Amino acid sequence: MIAHVLGARPNFVKAAPVIAALSGRQDLAGGPVREQRVIHTGQHYDERMSEVFFRELGLPEPDVNLGVGSGSHASQTAAIMVALEKEFIERSPELVMVYGDVNSTIAAALVAAKLHIPVAHVEAGLRSFDMTMPEEVNRRLVDQLSNLLFVTSPEAVGHLAAEGVEVGRVHFVGNPMIDTLLSHLDAFETEAVRAAHGLPERYIVATLHRPANVDDPAVAAGLVKRLHEIADLAEVVMPVHPRGRKVLTEAGLDDHPRVKLLEPLGYVDFVAAVRGAAVVVTDSGGVQEETTILGVPCLTVRPNTERPITITHGTNRLVTAEGLVPAVEQALTAVTGEREVPPLWDGKAGPRIARVVGDWLDG
Ligand code: UD1
Ligand code: UDP
Repeated sequence: MIAHVLGARPNFVKAAPVIAALSGRQDLAGGPVREQRVIHTGQHYDERMSEVFFRELGLPEPDVNLGVGSGSHASQTAAIMVALEKEFIERSPELVMVYGDVNSTIAAALVAAKLHIPVAHVEAGLRSFDMTMPEEVNRRLVDQLSNLLFVTSPEAVGHLAAEGVEVGRVHFVGNPMIDTLLSHLDAFETEAVRAAHGLPERYIVATLHRPANVDDPAVAAGLVKRLHEIADLAEVVMPVHPRGRKVLTEAGLDDHPRVKLLEPLGYVDFVAAVRGAAVVVTDSGGVQEETTILGVPCLTVRPNTERPITITHGTNRLVTAEGLVPAVEQALTAVTGEREVPPLWDGKAGPRIARVVGDWLDG
């Protein structure tokens, strides 16, 4: 049995095509259909941060939800580890699959490795080289613990080699988050989302949830000031991640007639809104990738990115808070040129992963 460990919003988007392919539902998968078990850690639990993705992305209902909820890094990671150890001992999976770089990912990899259960990491080898980000800590450690490393972007292969990961473990398969995007293209109805939220033709989508941007009230206040300035240029719609809600609201985010705050959106409505946006302002990892494929200008409010291919092959640009307003002004008038799609971001990463996993388990 293959156990998939999912916990946070981006995990669901990445896992959906992998689980579908392993269910034998896609042509390229080949081999016998594998028994799978979906374990939700409960790291994200609001309906709009979790359930909506299972409904929209055709993910199977979790077989179990560990219900760990929120907490400090140590308490959350520890709670996931304790619950997963029991689960893995009871169920003896032959492989544990983990996704991305969240606390659920590192917790699962650590528990599996110590029980001598092989680990497969989807989205291995991305590096921001910024160890102040919790995700960078998680990624580096997960990659050291993994037996199969599935890479979304070519430079990740070099990062893993530099860290001494055995080359035979590394498989460049493309990007399952883009599988999900491409398979839902027909569902993204920008006009309907605009009508539902009263958005004008030209609008900016903003999302912010990185601790470095939304945890410190002074930093958040600086960003709110810039968001108000860009709202003077075009309406800003912001589905607010629960992490930053309190601090951003207290900094007065809502106090501008052209800033529209929303609850987190479901996947289909969110990407539909992004698709129709003139510019996206974000600090999300996944959104940098999605805008690359959709060709929507993306301004990432971070000093670095673990996804440089979204800059070289996409529409992404890194900006500081101070640089945000001129960058938006420029993006609103610039014409997006022809871009080369990142290699293997072709909607077939899930089936490629399923084939490698199938062969590996057989062999
Ligand atoms: C986590 C990941 C981050 C990822 C993000 C995706 C880690 C260390 N961080 O950050 O890499 O980009 O998910 O969205 O794993 N909360 C709710 N409802 C929920 C979930 C969270 O209200 O359903 C609130 C709680 O106050 C919680 C806070 O959000 O304390 C942060 O949640 P947490 O899962 O710890 O980290 P994220 O910031 O969501
Ligand atoms: N997303 C969504 N609704 C929102 C904001 C984001 O469905 O209101 C999707 C987005 O399209 C992408 C994923 O959530 O597929 C990214 O998650 P997030 O930004 O929370 O995490 P990160 O990618 O930064 O780890």
